[in-house]
Amino acid sequence: MENTRKLNAHSSYDILCADGIISRAGEEIKSRFGADTTAYIISDSNVFPLYGEKLTASLSRAGIGYKVKVFPAGEGSKTPDTLIDILNSMAEEGISRSDTVIALGGGVVGDVSGLAASLYERGIRCIQVPTTLLAAVDSSVGGKTAVNLKAGKNLCGAFHRPSLVLFDFDTVKTLPSECIGDGMAEMIKYGVIYDASLFASLSNGLPSGEELKDIICRCIKIKIEVVEQDEFEGGLRMILNYGHTFGHAIEKLSSYAVSHGHAVAIGSVLAARAAVKLSLCTGEVYEKVLSAIKAASLPYESPYSCDDMYKCMLNDKKRRGSSISLVLPREIGKCEIKKLSLDELKELMENLG
Ligand code: NAD
Ligand code: GLY
Repeated sequence: MENTRKLNAHSSYDILCADGIISRAGEEIKSRFGADTTAYIISDSNVFPLYGEKLTASLSRAGIGYKVKVFPAGEGSKTPDTLIDILNSMAEEGISRSDTVIALGGGVVGDVSGLAASLYERGIRCIQVPTTLLAAVDSSVGGKTAVNLKAGKNLCGAFHRPSLVLFDFDTVKTLPSECIGDGMAEMIKYGVIYDASLFASLSNGLPSGEELKDIICRCIKIKIEVVEQDEFEGGLRMILNYGHTFGHAIEKLSSYAVSHGHAVAIGSVLAARAAVKLSLCTGEVYEKVLSAIKAASLPYESPYSCDDMYKCMLNDKKRRGSSISLVLPREIGKCEIKKLSLDELKELMENLG
């Protein structure tokens, strides 16, 4: 299966999904940007040994030179220290404005690399090569980049849109099952907020083969539709944060031992329960969300008290002064951005347990 889409926002870029596309990355890059660029490949300690050689061989065939930077895998690396280390290495390697960052990995690699590309010499080209389901359907598209600060998740970031996204379906084959679950959580999110028929396709657990590829492409299409309307998250794009305000609090409270996708899964259930408490949707909607999360073998109960989560949510990016916006389902496939005062949020959290 092969699927090409274009995202047309303030500038446009191609998103290509195909079997084996990492082995064609060099020619895809050369045909768009020429070969007169050095690729600065950023990857992690799990992904580079799996896919590094395919990528570098393909760049060499296209006559594109490259340098490689690998950092330890995991959310623990999504820090200002890793970012600064990458920027220093780029300078030491003589990377210039005409060169190209290639982010080869999951959402952590994509977020850190995108931010490094946005800062280095005030911004150089970044190509995203996502290797997790989550990164394919969400983080590689749309230009959000960030690292975490001690005070909270993604607090240091920038919008830096990729120049090209290349997703190789084959990378799913080596993903550990927890990481498949992380991607499922984000795919279920798209179903809850935007597309009831997508939700139905996901409600019995992970699809496989061509059906999975089709679902990945449908999720990317939704992400494109939302980002094209609101690239810089002035309004509509907030719906993509469904489950994330609770999720970010859970990630932070666990010192990032709970993965992003698993935290979003728990957050999605909590957000549906909150919507019932606020009379925005019926209990049946909550039961459907819970059942889809369970069918994907994802966690659905917060290991932390509502009081601890509330305190942590006060540091969330989505807080604006004395209010916070939660994305809450109205029905499956439709959601609402609900602005709550901090007092209303406190009351909601007291009643959510
Ligand atoms: P991740 O990048 O940590 O990858 C998960 C694990 O899988 C890592 O150990 C990684 O080394 C390994 N891995 C990656 N690809 C593999 C493969 N093909 N085979 C075997 N192992 C592989 O986590 P993630 O779930 O991809 O991304 C989570 C991050 O993405 C979080 O930091 C989250 O905040 C961020 N995110 C960003 C956006 C955005 O819009 N920028 C959206 C959603 C999530
Ligand atoms: N993952 C949320 C967004 O891209 O807006």
